[in-house]
Amino acid sequence: MTKTLIIGASGQIGKMTTKLLLNAKQHVVALVRDKAKLSDVDSPFLSITEQDLEGNFNMAFQDCEQVIFVAGSGGSTGADKTMLIDLWAAVKAVKYAKAHNVKHFILVSSIGADDPEAISGDMKPYLVAKHMADQQLINSGVAYTIVRPGSLTNHSASIQVTTNRPANNSDAKISRENVANALLHIATNAVNNSRIFELFDGSTPIAAAVK
Ligand SMILES: NC(=O)c1ccc[n+]([C@@H]2O[C@H](COP(=O)([O-])OP(=O)(O)OC[C@H]3O[C@@H](n4cnc5c(N)ncnc54)[C@H](OP(=O)(O)O)[C@@H]3O)[C@@H](O)[C@H]2O)c1
Repeated sequence: MTKTLIIGASGQIGKMTTKLLLNAKQHVVALVRDKAKLSDVDSPFLSITEQDLEGNFNMAFQDCEQVIFVAGSGGSTGADKTMLIDLWAAVKAVKYAKAHNVKHFILVSSIGADDPEAISGDMKPYLVAKHMADQQLINSGVAYTIVRPGSLTNHSASIQVTTNRPANNSDAKISRENVANALLHIATNAVNNSRIFELFDGSTPIAAAVK
């Protein structure tokens, strides 16, 4: 059975995705920098690796056929951490994945990462980092799914989404639970082609929207 490395497994979407995969009896290697953050998660399908993404985390990829990168520096840090986590740690992860013959790399990017030039202000360095991380994966030769969610909310999962950007910017949102459920679907269904899509709360069941 496929073993999936989840990078950022202690984060909000990361932990939800970890639990969903474990409930589906999928083998998970959870990469965290503090394993106490997963003390409430217990499963025979789980192994935990404690790593700092600012260092070398190559060993975490051992025997993993699939990777979900859902780490991020967060909104309370500066451009230095955006550079080191959202960009450089993702670039390193793609390099390690290639070296370990990973079959599928799922990267959580962001709405706006397709065209950071369209944005001015505080979000631009973050979107440049996401854009360059996406490019590294696209050019790597590793099969990929890049998910670009809209603004994240903490609403409950509706399991209904859309990959079409809403006309109104204020509607370009998605709950973290919906993203996690989409990641579950992507990780547990065969991938024929690499793909990139944005993701928002919507009215189509995840299985149909994220084909
Ligand atoms: N906020 C939005 O509206 C929005 C929109 C689109 C996309 N996104 C993206 O969605 C993704 C997930 O969002 P989220 O809200 O679930 O994020 P989150 O809760 O902030 O989780 C981030 C994860 O990254 C980990 N991390 C950060 N630095 C690390 C390091 N040096 N070593 C190891 N792990 C490290 C954190 O570990 P700790 O638990 O130890 O801190 C945490 O597990 C992010 O990539 C974000 O950029 C966000």
